[in-house]
Amino acid sequence: MRSTKLGRPKIIQNPRKTVRSLEIPVIGEQVPNQISKSAKIAPGVKIWNFAYVGPNAQIGSGTKIGSLAHIDYNVKVGENCKIEGLAYLAPLSSIGNNVFIGPGAVLTNDPYPPSQRMVGVVVEDGAIICAGAVIKAGVRIGSKSVVGMGSVVTKDVPPNMVVVGNPAKPVYTREEYERKKKSWDST
Ligand SMILES: CC(C)(COP(=O)(O)OP(=O)(O)OC[C@H]1O[C@@H](n2cnc3c(N)ncnc32)[C@H](O)[C@@H]1OP(=O)(O)O)[C@@H](O)C(=O)NCCC(=O)NCCS
Repeated sequence: MRSTKLGRPKIIQNPRKTVRSLEIPVIGEQVPNQISKSAKIAPGVKIWNFAYVGPNAQIGSGTKIGSLAHIDYNVKVGENCKIEGLAYLAPLSSIGNNVFIGPGAVLTNDPYPPSQRMVGVVVEDGAIICAGAVIKAGVRIGSKSVVGMGSVVTKDVPPNMVVVGNPAKPVYTREEYERKKKSWDST
């Protein structure tokens, strides 16, 4: 997937006011995504349509980024991760290797917006963050833990635990999750 630049701002004259809009180029069948020139994208990364990768972001090899995902400046994503469509990774988020971030999940970085001091979420290796989960700024998601869909995570999640709800609480272990997954896959 190649990156493209947005076109020059085009001024559209309006009798009552001037409206500034951006022309978005379409290259053949391909629609654009926006990847900063200073982002470091490793070989083998796949980035789908309309995704945004900001300045100084780093994306490790084999990682896949879905449509409309927003990966902001100074975000680090490790190797072989799956960042699903519409996920929002705020500036300073740090994601390990083999992490799954589900559709529409939100990693925040400002506890009292709009403040002057941002702190990123850390997601350790092998963690799974399910669809629509929201993670508080500065929280650490432990290795191989699972955050259930729609959960609101306000505190650090221990490694190998599944947490769900608002506020998210542990319900069972990753081992149990793997048992359930295996049983699901085999039926
Ligand atoms: C975390 C997850 C796997 C748990 O599913 P599960 O093992 O079937 O959960 P269980 O039915 O055993 O739930 C245990 C308890 O937690 C509750 N619970 C389960 N998932 C919950 C969630 N996401 N939020 C709040 N409560 C939840 C259940 O209602 C149940 O409560 P009870 O004991 O009072 O009845 C599931 O919620 C999830 O997030 N799946 C991933 C979906 C997803 O995002 N896919 C991404 C690609 S589309």
